[in-house]
Amino acid sequence: MKIIRAKDYNDMSRKAANIISAQVIMKPDCVLGLATGSTPIGAYAELVSQYERGDLDFSQVTTINLDEYKGLTKENDQSYFYFMNEHLFSKVNVNKERTFLPDGTEPDSAKACGDYNQIIADVGGADLQLLGLGHNGHIGFNEPADSFAPKTHCVDLTESTIKANQRFFASIDEVPKQAYTMGVGTIMKAKRILVVVSGADKAQIVKDAFFGPITPRVPASVLQLHRNVTVVADEAALSLVK
Ligand code: GLP
Repeated sequence: MKIIRAKDYNDMSRKAANIISAQVIMKPDCVLGLATGSTPIGAYAELVSQYERGDLDFSQVTTINLDEYKGLTKENDQSYFYFMNEHLFSKVNVNKERTFLPDGTEPDSAKACGDYNQIIADVGGADLQLLGLGHNGHIGFNEPADSFAPKTHCVDLTESTIKANQRFFASIDEVPKQAYTMGVGTIMKAKRILVVVSGADKAQIVKDAFFGPITPRVPASVLQLHRNVTVVADEAALSLVK
């Protein structure tokens, strides 16, 4: 695991974007595994700038996103479909037909998850998987559990995740209680993984996940077993590690 220390959020965003753009330059038809949450927003903005400057071409790129809320329409501004369009897809020349997320509008969980597993298999998995880090160590929406989930599944979001997401909704009742997420097994099959972390509120989980024991109680701890992980974190997030 390689840890890159960034000065602050902007520095973290630029460094992460440069790693993603290097991937696209080296393999223009790569599969990018993408993430939502507030942490990667700056990196997406930087990728958009690089595209606008003519430095980056997404025309052959395929994307697979980590997760999606179950029950939100695509037009809902809190759906991850909406988020990805807002922050990246509508601003670069990616082929929308080649951008994939779990279908949150599919009420049949087995079908939604089966279909998404098939899509991931068809595109051949991610060359580079971008990840944020939840306060409880979740990756995608893989919450602390007794075992690591292999493939896409429907999860009941934990109390702490629902609370953390509340700020995006009018009231806590509107926060979805379930989501479809790529499994830890699929994440671990990505050829390369890039984790972005920012802020003092993530310092403890950075320490637990990357320097503590490997356990499904801290889902991100499994990344210690992957052979090609880069963590780009700012000084605040790294404040509890040497
Ligand atoms: C959500 C997403 C995760 C993300 C996490 C952290 O739960 N499903 O993929 O990593 O939030 O979000 P933030 O970056 O806003 O702290």
